Amino acid sequence: MKRTPPDTLALVDQLADHHCLPLEGYQQLIEDTSELAASSLAKLADQVRRPIYGNKVYLRGLIEISSICSRNCLYCGIRCGNPNAERYRLTPEEILACAEEGHALGFRTFVLQGGEDPWFIDERLEALLHTLKRRFPDCAVTLSLGERSRESYQRLYDAGADRYLLRHETADPALYAKLHPPEMSWENRMQCLRDLKDIGYQVGCGFMVGAPYQTARQLAMDLKFVEQFHPDMCGIGPFVPHHDTVFRDQPAGGAALTIKLLSILRLIHPKMLLPATTALGTIDPHGREKGILTGANVVMPNLSPVGVRRKYSLYDNKICTGDESAQCRACLEARLRTIGFETVVDRGDVAK
Ligand code: SAM
Ligand code: FES
Repeated sequence: MKRTPPDTLALVDQLADHHCLPLEGYQQLIEDTSELAASSLAKLADQVRRPIYGNKVYLRGLIEISSICSRNCLYCGIRCGNPNAERYRLTPEEILACAEEGHALGFRTFVLQGGEDPWFIDERLEALLHTLKRRFPDCAVTLSLGERSRESYQRLYDAGADRYLLRHETADPALYAKLHPPEMSWENRMQCLRDLKDIGYQVGCGFMVGAPYQTARQLAMDLKFVEQFHPDMCGIGPFVPHHDTVFRDQPAGGAALTIKLLSILRLIHPKMLLPATTALGTIDPHGREKGILTGANVVMPNLSPVGVRRKYSLYDNKICTGDESAQCRACLEARLRTIGFETVVDRGDVAK
């Protein structure tokens, strides 16, 4: 006899009470497009966040250090196979100048993100980390530089890096294989995440929402992975097509689904650091505010020099590429104030 699936609101309650669901439960929540499901998740996610983070939103200053990448992820505008991508690399002095400006603007976390640029060997990154930590002892440094060896992760940790963001991209190896060239390995990416955690980093994983070929089942697998891996951070954002990729004609992922997933993630791990991403702000002009209202507690304004922002082009129509860092900071502050949230001058470590 076919069993009737539990009704969605019962699942929402189960998630809020137990912080986990069976895979089928996550899938059902994703497939239920009713307003009621989304609004109950949002309400409960906000409720569970308040006693932990209040109305505080943590700022991360994003410094896009290089658009040179040796990888060829099929969806990404800066993949090495794109001959039209404009390449740049910031010098250590330029990176330090961005951090200097960010510090004066109240940032206490710098996220150094970039393509997998072979110029950034361990010795260069170690020297940069030493200088950053000496000049800004009250700041955390997050790296987001892709897959490296365990030995390299260890050296960068020893040199002062506090956190590492490496989206797992998808928990389904079959989907991973459709979105990446054959030389890239899902197993290796997952191993990197385990190594990072083992070494002692605060670790962030994450995935795109609405990626080509992605099904509700695969998103449910992502939620199950996050539930079990228990990262300190989880970065999710809609897939947005880039005109120089094979997925140029694919639709962007949905803002509503991304926002619903943020609420679910908040309920799975109430203390997790959850950014409302630039990609979300790109597909919906108020996407970041909506994401914060429904569970996210981090924003990552851009501190990169204005001259290079357009060149760090992962997807089309990226927002904030023409704005000075101070404008971005002020703009986000004002946006958050209109919804009753405030940014804080704080490293913003995960709540213990
Ligand atoms: N190279 C590092 C890495 O691989 O983790 C950091 C930079 S990588 C470009 C940052 C993230 O951008 C990826 O993990 C991916 O999820 C996201 N991304 C790339 N192309 C995208 C697209 N077209 N739409 C939305 N997100 C995208
Ligand atoms: Fe950059 Fe609004 S956040 S201009």
